Amino acid sequence: MKFHASNLPLLDWSGDALIIGLSEDALPLTGTLAELNSRVSGLLQDLIDDVEFTGKDGATAITRLGGGVGFRKLGLVGLGASNAMTAETLRRAAAAAARLAKKEKSAALGLSMPIVHNDPALTAQALAEGARLALHHDSRFKSEDKNGKATVEHIHLLGLADQESSLQTAQAICDGVILARELVSAPANIVTPETLAQTAQDIAAAHGLELEVLEQAQCEALGMGAYLGVARASDLPPKFIHLTYRPAGTPTRKLAIVGKGLTFDSGGLNIKGAGSGIEMMKIDMGGAAAMLGAAKAIAQLKPDAEVHFISAAAENMISGNAMRPGDILTASNGKTIEVNNTDAEGRLTLADALVFAEKLGVDAIVDLATLTGACIIALGDDIAGLFSENEELAGAIATAAKAAGEKFWRLPMEEKYFDGLKSIVADMKNTGPRPGGSITAALFLKQFVTTTPWVHLDVAGPVWTEKESGYNNPGGTGFGVRTLVQWVLGPS
Ligand code: BES
Ligand code: MN
Ligand code: ZN
Repeated sequence: MKFHASNLPLLDWSGDALIIGLSEDALPLTGTLAELNSRVSGLLQDLIDDVEFTGKDGATAITRLGGGVGFRKLGLVGLGASNAMTAETLRRAAAAAARLAKKEKSAALGLSMPIVHNDPALTAQALAEGARLALHHDSRFKSEDKNGKATVEHIHLLGLADQESSLQTAQAICDGVILARELVSAPANIVTPETLAQTAQDIAAAHGLELEVLEQAQCEALGMGAYLGVARASDLPPKFIHLTYRPAGTPTRKLAIVGKGLTFDSGGLNIKGAGSGIEMMKIDMGGAAAMLGAAKAIAQLKPDAEVHFISAAAENMISGNAMRPGDILTASNGKTIEVNNTDAEGRLTLADALVFAEKLGVDAIVDLATLTGACIIALGDDIAGLFSENEELAGAIATAAKAAGEKFWRLPMEEKYFDGLKSIVADMKNTGPRPGGSITAALFLKQFVTTTPWVHLDVAGPVWTEKESGYNNPGGTGFGVRTLVQWVLGPS
């Protein structure tokens, strides 16, 4: 599928379907749209009347035309109130239009949408992102692809000539989101720690990044006892991934992005039982997937920040060699951990990954992790938890997330709750009481970061969706990639 930015007036465009974004206050029809209506013998007004189209956000309608213009079908997508319109409104509108065109078997789609925030570049990027992400379907594991038959081949963004560089930005970002979606959707017999390392290798080779993959022995030498405790029972060797993007010239900032990379989480000897969602635990590398997706996008967008992409990838399994509940592990910063629950494994892998990240001397660390079911209980499936004691960094991530249209909600790092992690025999336990479970998880991670500004993102809910919604399709969502890229690019 290809995007074309053009300044052709919509009356002169020819193709299969023209879809127009209409806000609630764009009715009754005036100007060009009134002219279009008369050219198509009033069919546009008929369509509006037939379905009582009011421009409500998310509403769609389409009709066949009998001539008068160069396209066969005319569609509408509602944008809600124009003063509430954001880039996210346009992403969703473009997604709705692309889905409609696909259903109508229209190969050439013309999109006529208003410019948001007086910013044609932002508008073009948002439209391209929404349409491309909505049209991405993953049929890698189907014997027959029932989705690919009718395809939208060309999307013409009308009134957005000269926005080619925004289209390239959108393409790079979507490449990253789609990579993350496919990594999350693939099962644990396909995506292993080795596959994650290989994916990092592919990105490094394609875009000239530096890659270091630490094998088990090297992690042992660095004292990564927490991480290796988790990896111990698996037949698959752990892979500690460290991918580095270095800009040309002196970097303005040095950043680290750390992703939880559990390619499968059985729970370990505290094994997840029936009804626990164990069959979904292939998604437990959603943080690492977002990290790799962001790397793929950032490698193409070439911002002036140096970025370290890190994941302590492993599989949490059971065997005669498994860590036992009650075992004491020593992390690479020397702290000792009593593992009172082997299913709280993500924080053990992140402990050593955060220590490694801080040793790089970066200005900020952001980690993403499908860390706790408790975060899903608190915020539901669509919103991720944001934890930080650094106002500036928390603000920068929140701003980036808002621009990206990804939802985060700040949760407190209530120091008193660390009492729940007190251990009689070691420096701390890895698991606290059930109440406030995502907060104690964040407080556990805090023991492994000293002074570097740090944000922890608990993305357990939004990395996966069961339903089609906006530009997401059922499966992995690629959540986090767009926020990370926006953060690294900086305020636009
Ligand atoms: N990977 C899970 C968290 C999770 C749950 C992610 C559901 C996505 C969907 C994590 O390793 C885990 O098992 N957490 C436990 C922690 C508990 C043992 C303290 C949980 O949330 O139940
Ligand atoms: Mn677990
Ligand atoms: Zn886990």
